[in-house]
Amino acid sequence: MVNVIGLGYIGLPTALMMASHGVEVVGTDYNEGLVATLNAGRITFKEEGLDDLFEAAVASGITFTTEYQACDTYIVSVPTPYDKVDKKIDPRYVVEAVRTVLGVAPEGATLVIESTISPNTIDRFVRPLLEGAGRADVGLVHAPERIIPGNMVYELVHNNRTIGADDPAVGERVAALYASFCEGEISVTDIRTAEMTKVVENTFRAVNIAFANELAKVCRIGGMDVYEVIRIANKHPRVNILQPGPGVGGHCIPVDPWFLVGDYPETANFIRLALQTNASMPEYVLRRAHEAMAERGIADLARVGVYGLTYKEDVDDVRESPTLQLLEAQAEHLSGGAMRVYDPWVEADVVPNQVHSMGEFLDGLEMVIVMVGHSQVKGRPELFGDRAIVDPRNVMGDGENVYKL
Ligand SMILES: NC(=O)c1ccc[n+]([C@@H]2O[C@H](COP(=O)([O-])OP(=O)(O)OC[C@H]3O[C@@H](n4cnc5c(N)ncnc54)[C@H](O)[C@@H]3O)[C@@H](O)[C@H]2O)c1
Repeated sequence: MVNVIGLGYIGLPTALMMASHGVEVVGTDYNEGLVATLNAGRITFKEEGLDDLFEAAVASGITFTTEYQACDTYIVSVPTPYDKVDKKIDPRYVVEAVRTVLGVAPEGATLVIESTISPNTIDRFVRPLLEGAGRADVGLVHAPERIIPGNMVYELVHNNRTIGADDPAVGERVAALYASFCEGEISVTDIRTAEMTKVVENTFRAVNIAFANELAKVCRIGGMDVYEVIRIANKHPRVNILQPGPGVGGHCIPVDPWFLVGDYPETANFIRLALQTNASMPEYVLRRAHEAMAERGIADLARVGVYGLTYKEDVDDVRESPTLQLLEAQAEHLSGGAMRVYDPWVEADVVPNQVHSMGEFLDGLEMVIVMVGHSQVKGRPELFGDRAIVDPRNVMGDGENVYKL
């Protein structure tokens, strides 16, 4: 039996996937409300295909509880934020979960840490807990997750995976467990390599996005079209530049590379600069919006609306989103009214001046900053009438009233 600890964006789909592929699964989360919702037959976040997966898993007998179970395998999928000051991983959720697992785990159990962790986290924070508890019998594994919100169900099945283990036999056993649903290639390696690989993957993307963002700024100064430049440069067989944008959000790409900067501050300079470049983008969008306001003679921020609160299109996750960063920058630097905010995917009130319908949002607006290219608006500038559109995602086409990065 597998006990999945932490039923958030990663733990829940993983638990459901295993359960619907014949594995006996109990899902545990210490959030009572979340467990009650799942037990009432409702999923806890919106994601393509998750409803059907949930139904299949429930039919296969998955259960949800706030209690840790005695079982042979644990998969820990709790948050791993970073300390905003020293940029190092904050392992407290992982440590608490592992401590609790050790209180119930039978002899010879396997403990899989699926949360993203920085290289050496297991050696520094997890292994000492096992040693302190005299639990050399517990098999330690790190199985980082690569899925992207918005396409999680597909990617769980089709992505390649990495399994890091002290004991290759335990690694192969866990690989077989994931192979119950995963059709991708599963590489079995040691724990530190698995830890480093996951962080390196997200760092690669952060650095590539930062490069595109810097190109956008250079092209703006030089009067060139960055999208056309990237499109043509990418025709080169060995060039693959990502797209510039209004910043990087979510739980992974703006977070994980900091682990390397935090642990290797003297060495990881290039990575630090990339993260700073990405973090500068929401403010850059604000500056572009002000140029557009000046050109259009719009003086009052109350006439400007921000469309999109999530960190990417067609998901409901607002963590670290560029819009939140933009609103923070606006509050710091600007006065003169407040911008209205709307996101069709976000029902809860997350920020002041948030409205909950497109009609209410557009009423009296002269300019819209499209921070997220949700399907609702992508390629449909006519939805905004003759209002000016600031389009840092390049999703609104070309037009006299469209202002790109
Ligand atoms: N969200 C993503 O897109 C994504 C992608 C790849 C990897 N990851 C990594 O996966 C891990 C989990 O991220 P997430 O997005 O699922 O987080 P999340 O915040 O959505 O979910 C975490 C869940 O863990 C629960 N929890 C925390 N501590 C617990 C404990 N001690 N016992 C029981 N439950 C506990 C919380 O209540 C919460 O429901 C993180 O390390 C993250 O970096 C996330």
